[in-house]
Amino acid sequence: MTVQIITIDGPSGSGKGTLAAKIAAHYQYHLLDSGALYRLLGLSLHKQDLIDSLDTQLESCVKIATNLDIKFVTNESGISVLLDGEDVSKIIRTERVGEFASKVAAIPALRTALLERQHAFAQSPGLVADGRDMATTIFPNAQAKIYLTASAQSRAERRVNQLQAMGVDVKISDILANIEARDKRDMERTVAPLKPAPDAYFIDSSNLTIDEVFTLMTNYIDQQLAN
Ligand code: DC
Repeated sequence: MTVQIITIDGPSGSGKGTLAAKIAAHYQYHLLDSGALYRLLGLSLHKQDLIDSLDTQLESCVKIATNLDIKFVTNESGISVLLDGEDVSKIIRTERVGEFASKVAAIPALRTALLERQHAFAQSPGLVADGRDMATTIFPNAQAKIYLTASAQSRAERRVNQLQAMGVDVKISDILANIEARDKRDMERTVAPLKPAPDAYFIDSSNLTIDEVFTLMTNYIDQQLAN
């Protein structure tokens, strides 16, 4: 039986994470949050004092990436993420770990080290893969490819609301500056830069609710899966 693959790529704050989880639940497919893998690797390398020496200590970093001990555990409160048995679900979502992830993501050998791990998520009946290069690099034969974006300002506003809901006090100007810097790094890196696949369905969610985006996505996916 073929495993159906739906990819959702786009910049941070576009609503990808929320939508990918909803779409996976709707079709009862598995979910790959590839950004979490980069965040986990960033955190692990930081803990081992390697995050500022990715270039000079590349061999050790690749080894760590290949052997990363991570688990995604589904429970009542959603999905918990474990690194070396420790629950790091909250810490990996911080801006600081996002910065580590972005540094890690710019190193080709580290991206390659995470490749097999991502392919392993493709299991029956299907997978929703959320990231930056899911359609362009990891799953180029996906049945449905979505590129979800939004203006930097609206992504910053959403991120502030998200962080405030988690009890974290932040300034929108700082978040906006972070988002713009990360977009630039993600889009300008030479390996697997953030960009829509030529055959992707493009959605700008700046002025759309989650429910509206969900409807656009499921209409498109149903069409693709019927082909
Ligand atoms: O989606 P996110 O914010 O959790 O991603 C964290 C970082 O990892 C971000 O800087 C982009 C990078 N990333 C990537 O390069 N490729 C992916 N498939 C997913 C994330």
